[in-house]
Amino acid sequence: MKFIVTEDYEAMSRTAARVISGYVSSHPDCVLGLATGSTPIGLYRCLVEDYEAGALSFKDVTSFNLDEYRGLDPQHDQSYRYFMEHNLFSHVDIDPARTHVPDGACPDAAAACAAYEQSIAEAGGLGLQLLGLGHNGHIGFNEPCESFPAAVHPVELTESTIQANSRLFDRVEDVPTRAITMGIGTILKARRILLIAGADKREIVEKALTGPITPWVPASVLQLHRDVTVITCGE
Ligand code: GLP
Repeated sequence: MKFIVTEDYEAMSRTAARVISGYVSSHPDCVLGLATGSTPIGLYRCLVEDYEAGALSFKDVTSFNLDEYRGLDPQHDQSYRYFMEHNLFSHVDIDPARTHVPDGACPDAAAACAAYEQSIAEAGGLGLQLLGLGHNGHIGFNEPCESFPAAVHPVELTESTIQANSRLFDRVEDVPTRAITMGIGTILKARRILLIAGADKREIVEKALTGPITPWVPASVLQLHRDVTVITCGE
């Protein structure tokens, strides 16, 4: 595992963007696993800048997002599809048909999950997976639980995640309580993993990456992957 501690949020975002743009430049038709949350917003801004400067193209890139709320319309401003359109997809030359976000609107969640897992496999698997980190150690929406989920699956969000994400909604009652997420197995199959975590996550980063490997701290499983880069920041 490679640890990079940067000075501040800007430096973390720029350093992470360099990892992704380097990967895309050397693998132009790669499959990127993407993440949402407030942490990667700066990183996506840097990638858009690189694209606008003519230094990066997403023309042949395929993307799969980690997760999506269930029951939110893709046009809803808190859906992860909307987040990705707004922060990255609409600003770069990625082919919209190659961008994938789990179908949180599908009434048959099990079918949506199976289809998503299969699409990832058909695309050749994830090349580089970007991850953020929940305060309880969740990655994607893999919440602390008794075992590591293998594949894309529906989840009930924990109260702490609902509370954490309520800052983005008008009222806590508006936060969806269910989601679809890549499983831990889906994530671990990625050839490379890039985890970014701001200064507010210092405690959980240490617990997850140096403590015991347990599904009660889902990100601790990353200790078992052979190509993980972690980028954090001092403030
Ligand atoms: C959300 C997302 C995760 C994200 C995490 C941290 O619930 N499902 O993919 O990494 O929470 O979000 P933030 O970066 O806003 O702290």
